[in-house]
Amino acid sequence: MLDYIVYEDFRAEVRAKAEETIAPHAAAIDADDHIPEGVMADVSKAGWFGATAPVEYGGLGWDTVRYAIMVEEASRASGSVGVMLAVQGSLMIYPLEKYGTDKQIKEYMPQFASGEVMGSFGLTEPSAGSDAGNTKTTAVLDGDEWVINGQKCFITNTKRDWPTVNFATVRTDPDKAKGVHGVSSIIVPSDAPGFNYGRKENKMGLRGSDTSEIFFEDCRVPKENLLGELNEGFKLFMVALDAGRISIGAMALGLGQAALELAVKHAETRVQFGKPIGTKQAIQFKIAEMATKIRAARFLVYSAGALKDAGRPYTKEAAMAKYYASQVGREVAYDAIQIHGGLGYDKSYPVERIYRDVKLDEIGEGTSEIQKVVIARNILNIQKKKK
Ligand code: CAA
Repeated sequence: MLDYIVYEDFRAEVRAKAEETIAPHAAAIDADDHIPEGVMADVSKAGWFGATAPVEYGGLGWDTVRYAIMVEEASRASGSVGVMLAVQGSLMIYPLEKYGTDKQIKEYMPQFASGEVMGSFGLTEPSAGSDAGNTKTTAVLDGDEWVINGQKCFITNTKRDWPTVNFATVRTDPDKAKGVHGVSSIIVPSDAPGFNYGRKENKMGLRGSDTSEIFFEDCRVPKENLLGELNEGFKLFMVALDAGRISIGAMALGLGQAALELAVKHAETRVQFGKPIGTKQAIQFKIAEMATKIRAARFLVYSAGALKDAGRPYTKEAAMAKYYASQVGREVAYDAIQIHGGLGYDKSYPVERIYRDVKLDEIGEGTSEIQKVVIARNILNIQKKKK
């Protein structure tokens, strides 16, 4: 199981598809802040929006390891496309399948699987970043409808030229003493009355992936849009994030792999002092360290996926995979720029874009510091004092 060589034929297939349909557009996706319809159509045709969705709902039914390899290869081609697929698979399809009612699954799963609808994960608020339980958005029942008021920010997959559905955390118990146990999860389509996009975030990287504020102003959705149990929404979001952290690790791997390959090519072809710079030990040592770190990170990501597929606990391992792979991705991209010298600092060379894209992986779906909190809490046998 652990040696991922058994997946190499599968990887070759998805890599070929990503190279053909995504990679040629990567620079334009970054420059134009937009994933074109043609790329969306090709990704949909490949079935990748629904990689892990059940076959009966139009998905491919892949296991987590295959899904991670797909996210890795899509990210190797374009980080913006990779993060879109990571959110759709891990933060939408996975919790919908795990917690959705039959009716919710029948309605939303085929839409997510085909990419007809983009899913976004509405956890972050101005005062609920790392402290994700500090939800201020409220939902109050009025007859057969929830009335939602509040604000979300930094929400990925808020593609404005596309129908979207947001899974939002909302405070449903006004008793503050209940803390995260007063938070529920609600399904909010972007065409619900009172759903409005605010500012599109002006990000350093992943420019083609739309990230926006959302405002709920007396936003109304049917009572049946509650996802999972009333007041258990925080845990549902944490469970989704466990899965999400595997795919963010996979994304960092793909970006790191792309940077490594570019660095190798440059080291082999760039001649200085009469020889390719790859003949210099200073460059060789960098390449050796980059490749070794990527291989180590790959084992962490796939083994967390394999634990999930085996139905075993994987919270700690997913956090380790994301923490380590995102650090490695950023370090490898940094070294790739260094190997390129001045050329690597130029926007016409893709290592610059990769460096900007991969930085998100140390922040999104929980910062590296939060991953270490999660890892340590799952190792140390120290009970938290009840307030
Ligand atoms: N699985 C199941 N239950 C979990 C859980 C998990 N992984 N993690 C926590 N819980 C449960 C706890 O057991 C606890 O339950 P009880 O009270 O019944 O015992 C409850 O949830 C509260 O847990 P904590 O007391 O640990 O909660 P906390 O307030 O201390 O916060 C935290 C924990 C790990 C710091 C959490 O707030 C966190 O993960 N923060 C980071 C948020 C984050 O990742 N944001 C990313 C936004 S989405 C995004 O980024 C998308 C994108 O860009 C692409």
